[in-house]
Amino acid sequence: MKFFVDTADVAEIKDLAASGLLDGVTTNPSLIMKAGRPMLDVIKEICAVVPGPVSAEVTAVEHKKMLEEGRKLAKLARNVTVKVPLTPDGLKTCKVLTSEGTMVNVTLCFSAAQALLAAKAGASFVSPFVGRLDDIGQDGMYLIDEIMTIYRQYPHFKTEVLVASVRHTQHVVQAAKLGAHVATVPPNILRQLFKHVLTDNGLKAFLDDWAKTGQSIL
Ligand code: E4P
Repeated sequence: MKFFVDTADVAEIKDLAASGLLDGVTTNPSLIMKAGRPMLDVIKEICAVVPGPVSAEVTAVEHKKMLEEGRKLAKLARNVTVKVPLTPDGLKTCKVLTSEGTMVNVTLCFSAAQALLAAKAGASFVSPFVGRLDDIGQDGMYLIDEIMTIYRQYPHFKTEVLVASVRHTQHVVQAAKLGAHVATVPPNILRQLFKHVLTDNGLKAFLDDWAKTGQSIL
């Protein structure tokens, strides 16, 4: 399973990239607003830090303008993945950009039917938002299960399921159990994946005992 980080904070991305566990980055207009910097600069900087796919989202809603924006974003770096919304215009744009060799992430997916359309449009990634479904009392992970079941029936589908709107570490674990290709995870949750109280306590006990031996490996 690939790990993407869901942020437009370049300092955070540099820090997490140093772990060697980062396969890509996703951004969206809200994350760009939070970063408080010009989008194109931010995307170029992220692409220079992380060699994997970096999602940059269009903001036009109409196909022609969306395509123009997508082409401009795609020129920023070879690893830009253009993010388009799951609308008829978004899927039309996805099809054209894909035929031009640009990676496309179809975002704001909330149903299995929508995910089926994204695959038919040739998307590189489809982003089902599990947390936002949980927020309205639905089961986000059930949607991942449904999409994975459908995609498995059609091995020629090349679209990867990118689990988005991740709220806690169990979302990541459940997504992995279902065989989802990617999870995009906020930085704080990515860091929580490393943590277990027994790891911390166990390490402390080992180091305390080691100190008592008076030995040193080096
Ligand atoms: C990622 O591509 C999405 O934009 C993001 O995961 C949305 O997360 P949110 O529901 O926490 O805003």
